[in-house]
Amino acid sequence: MKHLLKMLDLSKEEIIDILNLADQLKYELKHGIPHPHLRGKTLGMIFQKASTRTRVSFEVGMYQLGGYPLFLSANDLQIGRGEPVQDTARVLSRYIDGIMIRTYDQAEVEALAEHGNIPVINGLTDFSHPCQVLADLMTIREYKNRLDGLKLCYIGDGNNMANSLIVGGLKVGMSVSAACPKGYEPHSTVLDFAKGFECFELTDKPIEAAKDADVVITDVWASMGHESEREKRKIAFNGYQVNDEIMAAAKPDAMVMHCLPAHREEEITTKVFEEHAAEIFDEAENRLHAQKAVMVKLMG
Ligand code: CP
Ligand code: NVA
Repeated sequence: MKHLLKMLDLSKEEIIDILNLADQLKYELKHGIPHPHLRGKTLGMIFQKASTRTRVSFEVGMYQLGGYPLFLSANDLQIGRGEPVQDTARVLSRYIDGIMIRTYDQAEVEALAEHGNIPVINGLTDFSHPCQVLADLMTIREYKNRLDGLKLCYIGDGNNMANSLIVGGLKVGMSVSAACPKGYEPHSTVLDFAKGFECFELTDKPIEAAKDADVVITDVWASMGHESEREKRKIAFNGYQVNDEIMAAAKPDAMVMHCLPAHREEEITTKVFEEHAAEIFDEAENRLHAQKAVMVKLMG
């Protein structure tokens, strides 16, 4: 594994390896055992979109590994003024040991990886959010002690989270159901991949998708970049809310997860959110541990 660009690139073994290392790093951190695997190394973090969790967890994670994080706002980089990504990749490769990038176009992340010669980590694009899904799988395994054979249900927009959860879930042996309104389905590349799995279901009926689920996951109706469609989307996503009715269809001990930020009373009710806050904030914490594992694998 040279980069982390999207879940489609990872094998089941690579995913499980990352989760095992993440568990170990979490254990070591909780027990005060230092793990400076990246002593003296520098990670450049390019942000074209806002972030709380990704920025802070990568930054703190890098410190805990003995390295240096460098926050690079796209507004201040020449990339924001049109310098080609190919040149940015070649220049940054001369200074730093790895790049994390959050941007719109997946092609930009792939181009950075192709033209530079240092590891590139996707910190979210419109197409995928692999760091989040690794943390999600880690959290599910913590609560359920396994992944194989569990049913993951995603309700909402067929966005970066849906794309990455479907691929990640299927790769580790879970059944995956997704309920998305017509016109808001996951990416065709993801549906092509999922087609090969009998345990995949795409529907526009949330209750049907939630039936006997072990994990119910949702995300905002309007992702970053779609803010102007908020009102239109509120109408399109009416009925695609994780609420008591959905949870009644899922297994009685089903988990609920959300990558955050959450819009209460839109994609999830305050009641369900608060009843499952332990899982949701463990999921947010696990971003730190999962990404540290990714950085050690790629940059160690
Ligand atoms: N879940 C997630 O990626 O959060 P941020 O946008 O705050 O980084
Ligand atoms: N789908 C959301 C996830 C935020 C972490 C977005 O892209 O804005």
